[in-house]
Amino acid sequence: MNDQAPRRRPARPAKPHRRPKKDPVRILAFEVLRAVDERDAYANLVLPPLLRKAREKAAAGKDGGASQDGGTGKNATGGNGGTGKDGGPGFDARDAALATELVYGTLRRQGTYDAIIAACVDRPLREVDPPVLDVLGLGAHQLLGTRIPSHAAVSATVELARVVLGDGRAKFVNAVLRKIAADDLDGWLEKVAPPYDADPEDHLAVVHSHPRWVVSALWDALGGGRAGIEDLLEADNERPEVTLVARPGRTTVDELMHAVGEDSGLPGRWSPYAVRLAEGGEPGALDAVRESRAGVQDEGSQLVAIALANAPLDGPDQRWLDGCAGPGGKAALLGALAAERGAALLAAEKQPHRARLVDRALAGNPGPYQVIAADGTRPPWREGVFDRVLVDVPCTGLGALRRRPEARWRRRPEDLDGFAPLQRGLLREALRSVRVGGVVGYATCSPHLAETRAVVDDVLKGRGGPAPTAELIDARPLMPGVPALGDGPDVQLWPHLHGTDAMYLALLRRTA
Ligand SMILES: C[S@@+](CC[C@H](N)C(=O)[O-])C[C@H]1O[C@@H](n2cnc3c(N)ncnc32)[C@H](O)[C@@H]1O
Repeated sequence: MNDQAPRRRPARPAKPHRRPKKDPVRILAFEVLRAVDERDAYANLVLPPLLRKAREKAAAGKDGGASQDGGTGKNATGGNGGTGKDGGPGFDARDAALATELVYGTLRRQGTYDAIIAACVDRPLREVDPPVLDVLGLGAHQLLGTRIPSHAAVSATVELARVVLGDGRAKFVNAVLRKIAADDLDGWLEKVAPPYDADPEDHLAVVHSHPRWVVSALWDALGGGRAGIEDLLEADNERPEVTLVARPGRTTVDELMHAVGEDSGLPGRWSPYAVRLAEGGEPGALDAVRESRAGVQDEGSQLVAIALANAPLDGPDQRWLDGCAGPGGKAALLGALAAERGAALLAAEKQPHRARLVDRALAGNPGPYQVIAADGTRPPWREGVFDRVLVDVPCTGLGALRRRPEARWRRRPEDLDGFAPLQRGLLREALRSVRVGGVVGYATCSPHLAETRAVVDDVLKGRGGPAPTAELIDARPLMPGVPALGDGPDVQLWPHLHGTDAMYLALLRRTA
């Protein structure tokens, strides 16, 4: 027996405390996620000014919080890690692209990542502090949704956690991310998503990161089997192309293509006025966009305005109304099309600040137009004076989930009840505003049946209040060349089928 007292090992010198590396790309992404969570901010509004500031700060040669990566100007974590090509502080296009990907990807895939994170922590997610969840979401996205190598994704996220959460919580982040890193996305989905056969909607909700009620609503509107809805849900998770509209009479597609550069522009798929921008194009830098001769506009929105403008009409065609015009995308295209016909456009918008945006979009319109702040449910104009009327009503926006990555998590089914009376009221008043024989376009940026067909049916049948009688016009021939428009007479566009937002359009002719 060894009765000698155990020899104490000489104490290891304490590790010198290392200051965490500040990575401006990930710090910026974290700040955007916090703004989205804490103050219900929109990522697409918060991100661009932060990117601009980061670039300006870097250009001014200030610290920029640059991460040190040995002065190589590159690191394994994607982007330049905020280090300029000369090894000094910087924030270049690659950094901006990585920050954008981290923000949008993390928000879009939040449902999937939350399910995976929940499997890796030993308490309900609601008991995890929101900033910690944001860091874990960023880490999960790097691990499961990007090509950043696992070790780099973990270490960069743990460094971020040290900066924004402190060393204690960074250890927790480290432990959770190591568990996540043990499998790839498919492996995790096998574990955390219920089998499709047991619960198809829940399965799709977890796999494609949509709330279950949204999966259900989209599926009801789309119809069909598993393949279609899966394609749609995945299309919602893709970054949409930026599309420009060359407003007729003000600029042309050729001019716009020339301005963006032959390599950066592609003609539209469906709209004769569209130019699609290659990744990284900056539409705001184009003179035509600054001067409102062109604008950023999804092709679905262009198709809606064009279809209304081209709907067959007997009699005069001189007075057009956009009854829900803000911020003015469709009004600007309608104004240009009206000008070509010698017609005048009245653009009405309830919110004065949005009416000012409409004014800006229409500035320089070649034909007569007027912009007013007015409530389309109590219109100040006389009944039956317009030949064509568009009401692009406020809605849940479930058709534009590609653009607003956080919207799907913020919307609630109850929101539909809030919009329902307004949507019906606006359509009823639109029908009163148009002359007998004139055409009303009822549009939404949502495919939810409660916001599309149910509204049109109710108003046509006089449910909820009397409305002038009207009949539906087949909108499909007014979108020539566009496939898969359904059985009509209304039209529903889809991201996975048309590459557009899921815009809905019903055309109604007033008959009495
Ligand atoms: C979906 S947006 C219209 C988008 C617009 N057509 C475009 O392409 O840029 C709906 C607009 O209707 C406005 N709005 C809401 N209630 C209204 C009302 N009672 N009368 C008129 N406009 C209203 C909202 O402020 C919002 O700007």
